[in-house]
Amino acid sequence: MAGPVVRVAALADLHCTKTSQGAFQSLFARVSEAADILVVAGDLTDYGLPEEAAVLARELTALRIPAAAVLGNHDLESGKAGEVRQILEGAGLTVLDGDACELQGIGVAGVKGFGGGFGRHALGPWGETIIKQFVHEAVDEALKLEAAFARLRTKPIVALLHYSPIQQTVEGEPLEIYPFLGSSRLEEPIGRYPVSFVVHGHAHRGQLEGKTKNGVPVYNVSMPLLTRTYPDRQPFRVFEVPLTGAATCDPAAPASTGRRATDAVAAS
Ligand SMILES: [Fe+2]
Ligand SMILES: [Fe+2]
Repeated sequence: MAGPVVRVAALADLHCTKTSQGAFQSLFARVSEAADILVVAGDLTDYGLPEEAAVLARELTALRIPAAAVLGNHDLESGKAGEVRQILEGAGLTVLDGDACELQGIGVAGVKGFGGGFGRHALGPWGETIIKQFVHEAVDEALKLEAAFARLRTKPIVALLHYSPIQQTVEGEPLEIYPFLGSSRLEEPIGRYPVSFVVHGHAHRGQLEGKTKNGVPVYNVSMPLLTRTYPDRQPFRVFEVPLTGAATCDPAAPASTGRRATDAVAAS
């Protein structure tokens, strides 16, 4: 008999502005009907302004389910990420930055991530100091993600990022900007924990789905991408994650634990 299932809604790149009053309330109301928890993969605000976060906080009064978020690069633009975070947490969002939380039995590990590119073309820590600093930022974010996984005793786990850990879900963007959309370094810890799936945003013109080299599904839940792909639907996705059996490990495919997340893209 099938065990309990948690419906995980995911979206990213709201880019809330100072004039966005009323723009997200019906979205959050629909999310609350369609899912048990919500994860938001960064760029909640457009310029990282506390005033924008305050507008979003008012919109979030329509959300009636537990929610976690990571900040995106836009949320850091004005150097006021601390204030933005405080306002969003005041509105009930759990904002993750290298840490983890449990929502309705699902472990959520969150980190913003960083760029640097993918695979054998990824930027290496060599030459100028500033290049090494750039690479170390991505390495640090990957270490933070690993630390967040290690803190979770609950399974299954959802990995929540802003930047992509794989190239597949940024394809469709101009090739020249791939290195600024994500980093393979973020992919490394994902294969070492029972991660059901990864969600990210940031690549507004990327692809909806991909897989890590260990077969973990990766979903780009950027709202502009979802709106363009499904113009007749609300711009969020819902994944059904079974709770039972998630703690067991299949020796033939150790990274596949609890990964039977069924995508149930929210209709309209
Ligand atoms: Fe964005
Ligand atoms: Fe972004």
